[in-house]
Amino acid sequence: MRNMEEAYIGIDVGTQGLKAVVINPMGRVLMTTFSEYPTSSVNIAWTEQQPGDWERALSTALNVIARENLTLSWKAIGITGQMHTTVVCDADGNPLRPAILWSDQRAASYAGQLESRYGLEHLLDVTGNKPLTNFSALRLLWIRDQERHLYEQIRHVAVAKDWMRFRLTRQWGSEVSDASGTYLLNVKNRQWATDFMTSLDISPDWWGPVSESIHVAGTMQFGPPIFHGLPVVAGAGDQAASAIGTGLGVGELGISLGTSGVLFWPLDHYQLPPHPSIHAFCHAEQETWHWMSVTQSAALSLRWLRDQFYAGEPYALLDKDAADSPPGSDGLIFLPYLNGERAPIMQPHARGGFLGISSTHRRAHFARAVLEGVAYSLKHCYTTMNPQGTMTPRRLIMTGGGAKSSLWTQIVADVMGQEVWVVDDPGAAVGAAWLARLGVLNQVERMPLQNATVVRPGFQQDIYSTGFARYERLIDRLIPLWADSD
Ligand code: XUL
Repeated sequence: MRNMEEAYIGIDVGTQGLKAVVINPMGRVLMTTFSEYPTSSVNIAWTEQQPGDWERALSTALNVIARENLTLSWKAIGITGQMHTTVVCDADGNPLRPAILWSDQRAASYAGQLESRYGLEHLLDVTGNKPLTNFSALRLLWIRDQERHLYEQIRHVAVAKDWMRFRLTRQWGSEVSDASGTYLLNVKNRQWATDFMTSLDISPDWWGPVSESIHVAGTMQFGPPIFHGLPVVAGAGDQAASAIGTGLGVGELGISLGTSGVLFWPLDHYQLPPHPSIHAFCHAEQETWHWMSVTQSAALSLRWLRDQFYAGEPYALLDKDAADSPPGSDGLIFLPYLNGERAPIMQPHARGGFLGISSTHRRAHFARAVLEGVAYSLKHCYTTMNPQGTMTPRRLIMTGGGAKSSLWTQIVADVMGQEVWVVDDPGAAVGAAWLARLGVLNQVERMPLQNATVVRPGFQQDIYSTGFARYERLIDRLIPLWADSD
């Protein structure tokens, strides 16, 4: 047993599937497994998943890891997952209905209702954020009004990874980074906003205690026996975990090109953001917070294009088509609002679009336009986060599945007009595994930046600044149209 390398497992209950990684004490990834599960959409604005699918995927992942017979000394498990995704359960922890996903828009009208009832100033004081359809509390209000019979049976509520925490340890509870996205946390004080919850007819008992992210939540009681008894560390929401996994520090801007596209700006003190579309949430490091701006459909837009127009073809073909098309896509502009939009326009009824199609456009142009439209949306988030240009990030660090495309990362660097560091082998699961390490050692240590490729903005910047100006003008005109469908 002596001299065996220590190892930590990180589990990410993602939107496309479940990823599990094994890392060593330096943060190096020794093994990764991934298995997909479906999302169902019975209504255009709804997205749901079955928590049982997450559990089966986790069981598969743990069995795959165990079967590798790695000669490692297992130390702890950390968890992360899609934020805001809400599971309501009976007394035994069985889901009463499918989980309502972060991208689901059904609770849109509750944002206005909350503002009218409490006033935005009071809400900002209590939760630090403007109410948005994506937050768990608003989904609970929807269930309260639309599925009253289920609401009355609720005994526990959890976001995705905390439901998994219960399955792993039989303990309920959350931690500050994911709890921030429920809209029921006093983000400034890092405590549940219990009076606010009660006033909404939401029981504080449903959530269990809230802790810091490196808290040991319980011990493993699930999966192959070799993992039983290991400490399970509370972990973090996927965006905070991803920031941890890239070693992002104050003064550095994280860009995640995952299913959603996210800008993540760590803060060493609590501060309200400059625009209501930007979230002010607790970070997974103690006494730190962050601003976060989320465009809902980043890699999701590319996946949609592949599924609908390149069925059965690999992403490599989309990438090649995009690379063969001219920068600016000969005037074709894509608006990535396939699931409405959060930041910066906050329009749950927005829908995607291609504008500027001419008879000379080929399928390949559409592939490039999708990559460019998502990059414009990220820039749109950035200009809203940094309206005075006073935020001067030392470094832009990019992660997420979309970051595997060197063309897409180059387009982002060109559109942002800044150098981008693209991190290898990233992902929230790595951050969760790192938090597991910090949890059992009970220490604070930033993860070393793993292999990164630096992408410099190139000669396309002018084309893209014109393209971005057109994109902004278009959206300004479309917003009244979407707002009318409220
Ligand atoms: C963050 C958000 C998404 C999910 C999906 O606020 O809604 O990024 O966390 O991973």
